[in-house]
Amino acid sequence: MCGIIGYVGTEDTVPIILEGLKKLEYRGYDSAGLAILDRGAVSVVKQKGRLTALEEALRQNPLTGHIGIGHTRWATHGEPSDTNSHPHLGSQRKIAIVHNGIIENHRYLRETLERKGVVFHSETDSEIVAQLAEYYHRGDIMDTVIRVTNALEGSYALGFLCADDPDKLIAVRKDNPLIIGLSDGGNFIASDVPAVLKHTNKICYLEDREIAVLEKDRVTFYSRDREVIHKTPETISWNFESAEKGGYKHFMFKEIMEQPRVLRDTIRSALPGGTNHAVIEALDIGRYSQIFFTACGSAYNVSMVGKYVLERLCRFPVTADLASEFRYRDAVIDARTLVIVISQSGETADSIAALREAKRKGADTLAIVNVVGSTIAKEADHTVYTMAGPEIAVATTKAFSAQLALLYLLAVRFARGLGRVTPPEEAALLADLEELPDQAEALFAHVDRIQQYAATCFNCKSIFFIGRNVDYAIALEGSLKLKEISYIHSEAYAGGELKHGTISLIEEGTLVVAIACTERLYGKTASNVEQVLSRGARVLFLTSSGETEETDCLSLLPIRPVSEWLAPSLSVIWLQLFSYYVAVYKGCDIDKPRNLAKSVTVE
Ligand code: AGP
Repeated sequence: MCGIIGYVGTEDTVPIILEGLKKLEYRGYDSAGLAILDRGAVSVVKQKGRLTALEEALRQNPLTGHIGIGHTRWATHGEPSDTNSHPHLGSQRKIAIVHNGIIENHRYLRETLERKGVVFHSETDSEIVAQLAEYYHRGDIMDTVIRVTNALEGSYALGFLCADDPDKLIAVRKDNPLIIGLSDGGNFIASDVPAVLKHTNKICYLEDREIAVLEKDRVTFYSRDREVIHKTPETISWNFESAEKGGYKHFMFKEIMEQPRVLRDTIRSALPGGTNHAVIEALDIGRYSQIFFTACGSAYNVSMVGKYVLERLCRFPVTADLASEFRYRDAVIDARTLVIVISQSGETADSIAALREAKRKGADTLAIVNVVGSTIAKEADHTVYTMAGPEIAVATTKAFSAQLALLYLLAVRFARGLGRVTPPEEAALLADLEELPDQAEALFAHVDRIQQYAATCFNCKSIFFIGRNVDYAIALEGSLKLKEISYIHSEAYAGGELKHGTISLIEEGTLVVAIACTERLYGKTASNVEQVLSRGARVLFLTSSGETEETDCLSLLPIRPVSEWLAPSLSVIWLQLFSYYVAVYKGCDIDKPRNLAKSVTVE
């Protein structure tokens, strides 16, 4: 969590940093701040609260300069407050730093410095970096950065400014993302590409413990032993507009509406001529005895769909595991296991740890990632990219759909590899898949239907989601989406589980969202619906079957997939829209829900 940005160049730094921070706010929004180096002095303005609070503080106390660093915080050590905000300064105000990550030995280092008379101002783990830097500094900032990072344990992406070296911005990282943007008007550091896209699409990725020294007209990369490293910049295909709201009120809504395009691009990417095709074709399912999915949050929910779809289509053993559990549970995997890690950001700490654990055990690893050059993308043995483009809203929507599309394609590929489908059957499955984007598009013609229903739900205290098989996996996602942006308590249950306890919570007026798009299980879910209706619930029923009729308490949302196995891609869009409108009617902060951050880089 936390977003960092830095700039050195010919332009005025403050607007560039503020703009970059806006793009990084999804990573944390407890406080924000910036430091500018001008005429040999470092000035800091930082403020608890959203970026608008920092903008106001800068109106009171304007800064100018051509080199600076900025930060938007998701609090880990110390409450959100002005003093705990970044940038942090050393006691002599010579060195300023911004930090994303966690310094695990900060207590020990702090006590050591305090014994030597250093006075700390904040409760953060990050301040130790600034204090230590000033303590070690003997005039050579590179040397200082190396000594500081040698003393640190934990994870970090760091930006340094030093009054002794007023033309240089120094960056270093370990286990947290940091990109370097290169442009004619200056050079940038940032936690993520959208923060610099307005200025450049030429990006270099910093590897663990590498150091970048940025000046206005050059960037030099060093190893931790001070050897110069040559890097060739990559050109990012995302454009600036794709990271903008483009006239929509919220990023989440824009991203929901982008899904037909995202599905189309992602499906094409896996077909002959597409960028993911060669990687998918090269996977030899014959060398594996099992598949393990591991991921967090929504990406885990995609894994659940993947488990059901792959098992059914491929008749192959598949396990879906939360990355935070997988990393510690000593799973039974070996060189004959394919571990598939799914992640939008490619930087989720638990998913990275799960990937490393899988590799340590000798498994072959495949990453399904959205952010090019992210840690998971780089560390996996094989990587395929979802074509979602930058996803800004904290609640994922289009990345979820893109992950699902790649899973369908993998399932078809593996089914062929295992001889479970004949060539005509494979062609038919792919033809169904290629119709999916149009089907998603068609669904948007009925948005007002879900909007009207949501208008009757925003006062609910609790909402239950039920389904079986893939519909259960989508129920999990619907429930997660609702609670993260509307703060309404909700639970998802496999339909058959309801009567084993949870049904006691159903009372007059409780809302149950039921999903039944799996034909052979329709009757089972329909009878779960009857059970809750007879206990006073009202039900929103998403179904592909025409058997049920609407009543006062039972509202229908029809789903008409071209083929049953693709229904999750449509039902999830209804549920995303449902959560979105419920949160809108409740007046919630849709794109930046409380306590959350988009990229969870802490354990
Ligand atoms: C979903 O809306 C969430 N914001 C969250 O559950 C997310 O899916 C999870 O943190 C995993 O993130 P990743 O895909 O970037 O690894």
